[in-house]
Amino acid sequence: MYTSKITGLGYYVPENVVTNDDLSKLMDTNDAWIQERTGIKERRHIKKGDGNSTSVMAVKASTIALERANLKPKDIDMIVFATLSPDMYFPGGGVEVQEAMGMRTIPALDVRNQCSGFVYALSVADQFVKTGMYKNILVIGSENHSGGLDFTTRSRNVTVIFGDGAGAAVVSRNETGKGGILSTHLHSEGKHKNELSLKGPSTEYWVPQIIAENLRKGQTDQQENIPYYPVMNGQFVFKHAIVRFSEVIKEGLEANNLEVKDIDMLIPHQANLRISQFVQHKLKLTDDQVFNNIQKYGNTTAASIPIALTEAWEEGKIKEGDLVVLAAFGSGFTWGSAIIRW
Ligand code: UT7
Repeated sequence: MYTSKITGLGYYVPENVVTNDDLSKLMDTNDAWIQERTGIKERRHIKKGDGNSTSVMAVKASTIALERANLKPKDIDMIVFATLSPDMYFPGGGVEVQEAMGMRTIPALDVRNQCSGFVYALSVADQFVKTGMYKNILVIGSENHSGGLDFTTRSRNVTVIFGDGAGAAVVSRNETGKGGILSTHLHSEGKHKNELSLKGPSTEYWVPQIIAENLRKGQTDQQENIPYYPVMNGQFVFKHAIVRFSEVIKEGLEANNLEVKDIDMLIPHQANLRISQFVQHKLKLTDDQVFNNIQKYGNTTAASIPIALTEAWEEGKIKEGDLVVLAAFGSGFTWGSAIIRW
């Protein structure tokens, strides 16, 4: 049995900065509300014509991660790609990265667990490395939210929180035998699937059906009836998030005979700064033990943990031997944690 280790990290965000004031020109919202409820000051959005897409951003983040891992695309044995916003309905983003980076005909697996996507993807990679089947796996979280959000007041509770970006990690066989990914812990509770969801396009809402339905109703605005935009029961999600985050962090620590005080760096999925602060307070962690960057990027779903992990590492906040905890919660509901000795 082998162990796995993160050997390279990278992230990419589009250059286009969208401030809260920018959003307030499109819908009835304001900087004070957004900052007070979410901590977000700005986010990045792909700009029409800038060449970015979910898979393009994924390739940019992955190129950096590979360089830092001292590996070439041909060295990668598998891709695990987490996103809720793939360039195409099918196939998924994994094959796009395989092709764009000129990789061998390696497996490309797509993970669709939304905000928990990166932790799920990391867990999959960890299992494949542990069994000895693969040596180097590229794990990606990338999202193009701005392409699919409703920029009118009716969706303001959802639209203001999301941003675009990508993060990537190379998960390799741990040749040192020291540390690495100690364990991962994954959960789901599908009874809450409607509380944060996007229903179309799907086999329930195919385009011909939508057109027929609108013709029958004499509607011209499809969006009034057809769920093509994400919906969220914000307070319900918030309440579950704070419970599950704390639970799954403790579960991971207990599995390794560790305690909250042993955490050197907690990287929570950047859902809402208030959620991170609540969890920090509940676990009695200091400011130095928790990393947040939602203020700059908003909630980038599957990309948020690898972006934050990369930034924390670049800023020298994660050092060899540190205990790093990743934790996520989101649509599904799904949630998870990863306990890593760096
Ligand atoms: O990442 C995956 C998991 N997602 C999450 O964890 C998100 C969890 N939820 C949240 O972060 C928060 O619930 C939100 C930030 C989405 C919303 O904050 P909230 O404090 O729960 O607000 P609310 O939805 O209860 O709305 C409160 C009021 C409402 O007005 P009334 O009915 O009290 O008059 C909303 O219409 O705030 C209004 N509102 C806004 N006002 C200005 C909602 N969105 C906005 C907005 N700007 N963007």
